[in-house]
Amino acid sequence: MQGFEVVGYDISQLYLDKARRYADKMKVTDKIGFCRGDFRQVESTLRSRKYLGFQVIIDMLESQGFYGEEGDIQLFKQLRRISGDGCVLILQALNRDFLVKNFYEHAVHEVTPRMVLHERLEFNYENSVLRNNWKFYSKGSAGVLKPVLEVTLEARVYSLHELRRILTESGWENLESYADIRKLDKPGPERSTMVMVARRMS
Ligand SMILES: C[S@@+](CC[C@H](N)C(=O)[O-])C[C@H]1O[C@@H](n2cnc3c(N)ncnc32)[C@H](O)[C@@H]1O
Repeated sequence: MQGFEVVGYDISQLYLDKARRYADKMKVTDKIGFCRGDFRQVESTLRSRKYLGFQVIIDMLESQGFYGEEGDIQLFKQLRRISGDGCVLILQALNRDFLVKNFYEHAVHEVTPRMVLHERLEFNYENSVLRNNWKFYSKGSAGVLKPVLEVTLEARVYSLHELRRILTESGWENLESYADIRKLDKPGPERSTMVMVARRMS
């Protein structure tokens, strides 16, 4: 984003270091602050670093739901408090309607020629929480699989109208909704992602 000063926020030092390397490559490091912190303390962490009055906040690639609906409401309220007048929030999320329509329980992905991922999904229809279990295996010479890493992640997933409701509850006015931020096309159950554009309520 040309002309803006940017702060990148994440709990993972690994990802922050990766972002810094990319910023160095693009020669924009002097315009970017890199801040390590938890979503749940985003307001106090950014305030302590004097990062306030944001004009745009971008929350991309399904970074919601890890702490349930109440966790997301608290996050959006905190983001509102550190934003400036008229701030625009751009939020991309997994579309629950697509997930339900296209649900699968198991999948095997070849991550690299020597690494295989076995994915197992469970969806709780009572609370709309998706449980994702990933088992990574390295592939030996005779195709023998050796377990390398297992990760389980749970997240509340939303339909468009639900995310719009919790944005309103958290002090954000919904402006537009899309399926894809690059194409700016209509969201719907046949699209895996949804993007909301909202403005800070005064
Ligand atoms: C699906 S990735 C999206 C990454 C990033 N938004 C992007 O567009 O590339 C989710 C991100 O959330 C971060 N994350 C997970 N739990 C977090 C937390 N409690 N506080 C801050 N960041 C967290 C992860 O480290 C990861 O970078």
